[in-house]
Amino acid sequence: MDSYLGKNSMSGSNLTSNKIIPIASSPPTAFKDIIGQSPPMKSIFRMVEKVAGSDTTIMLNGETGTGKGVIARAIHECSPRRSKPLIQINCGATPEGLLESEFFGYRRGAFTGAVADKPGKFEMANGGTIFLDEIGDMSADLQVKVLRVLEEGEFERVGGRETIKVDARIIAATHRDLEEEVQKGHFREDLFYRLYVIPIMLPALREHKSDIPFLVHHFLEEFARKNQKNVMKVAPEAMQLLMNYPWYGNVRELKNTIERIVVLKDGNTLGADDLPEKVRMDEAPAGRRRGASGGEEGISFQTAVSEFEKALILSALEKTNWVKNRAADLLQIKRTTLVEKIKRYQLEKPAGDI
Ligand SMILES: Nc1ncnc2c1ncn2[C@@H]1O[C@H](COP(=O)(O)OP(=O)(O)OP(=O)(O)O)[C@@H](O)[C@H]1O
Ligand SMILES: [Mg+2]
Repeated sequence: MDSYLGKNSMSGSNLTSNKIIPIASSPPTAFKDIIGQSPPMKSIFRMVEKVAGSDTTIMLNGETGTGKGVIARAIHECSPRRSKPLIQINCGATPEGLLESEFFGYRRGAFTGAVADKPGKFEMANGGTIFLDEIGDMSADLQVKVLRVLEEGEFERVGGRETIKVDARIIAATHRDLEEEVQKGHFREDLFYRLYVIPIMLPALREHKSDIPFLVHHFLEEFARKNQKNVMKVAPEAMQLLMNYPWYGNVRELKNTIERIVVLKDGNTLGADDLPEKVRMDEAPAGRRRGASGGEEGISFQTAVSEFEKALILSALEKTNWVKNRAADLLQIKRTTLVEKIKRYQLEKPAGDI
C-alpha cells in the first residue's frame, strides 16, 4: 500500500507536479483506489488486512466522507467472501416502514402489494458480507431484530413462519457517536457491544493532511480521464491552501471540489484562483481577506453570513465566560451545534482568560 505513488512521492517537487511515479508492485486490487500514506491511514490499511480473513463484526466510525464505504468494500474484497455478494443497506435513507422487509424479505400476502415472496438483503448476502450503513439511525424495533440475527444468525421473513438461517459477515458504519447514543437511550446497549467487536475509527481529513496532495493528484487524474482532459499541475500556493483548509466534509468534499475544477477549467495548472472562496479565505489573515472588506471584488453572501455567525458566537461565549451550555442557551441553539461551530471556526478561549 505504500507504493501507490512511488517511494519518493512525498518529496516537495512531486507535491506540485502532475507526474505520478509508476506503481512499483501492484497493490491488492481491494486498495487500488484508496489513497493513504500517512501513519493513521497506513494503520487502517494494516487493520483491514488483519481483520479481512476472519468473520468478526466490524464497526466503522468516522465523520461523513472519511471513507467508511470504501473501507467496508475493501474489507469484503480482501476477505475469503469476496466472490459472494456485498450487500449494503442504508439504515438512514430507507423509509422506516420498508426497512424490515428490506432486511428480512416478506411472504406473499404479508401486506398490501406483497404479491409474491421476496428475499431480504440478509438472505441475499448469504455467504458474503452485509454492510449496515448509518446503523445509528435504526429504530428501536429494528434494533431488536437485527440483534437476533447477529446473535443467532436467523430470522423470519415478514409474514412468514419459517426460520431462515444466514451466514453473512457484518460490517456496520456510523458517523454518530454511538456510545453517546447509548447513554441517551437511543441505541441498545446490547446491540452496541455486539457490533463493537472490532471498531475502526477513520480519521478526519484534517487529521491526516499529509495525504491531501496524494488525494488531489488522484482525483485530478480520475476526473481528467473521465472528462478526456490533460492532468493539471497544482501551483504550490494552491496546494498550500488545499492543505490548510479544514475539509469538514472530508475526502468527499475534497473530491467534489477537484471534480468541479476539472470540469469547469481549461488550462494546465490549478492555481489559487481556481479554488472555491472558502478555501482561498485562508490566504490572508481575517480582516484582510479577499472580499471581506467589501473591496473591488465585493463580499460574498456566504462569507458575510459566516463572519456574522462567528461574531455572534464569540460574543455569546465571552458573555458566558466560555460556558458552552449557557452560550448555547443564549444563542438558542443546541450545545452540540455550538460545539460543531466552535470547531468549524476554530474558536479558542483567549489564553489570558483561563
Ligand atoms: N482514502 C481515500 N482514497 C480515495 N478516495 C476516497 C478515500 N476516502 C474516501 N474516498 C472517496 O470519498 C468519497 C466519500 O467516501 P465514502 O462514501 O466511503 O465516505 P463515508 O465515510 O461512507 O461517508 P458518509 O458517512 O457520508 O456515508 C467517495 O467518493 C470515496 O470514493
Ligand atoms: Mg457512507
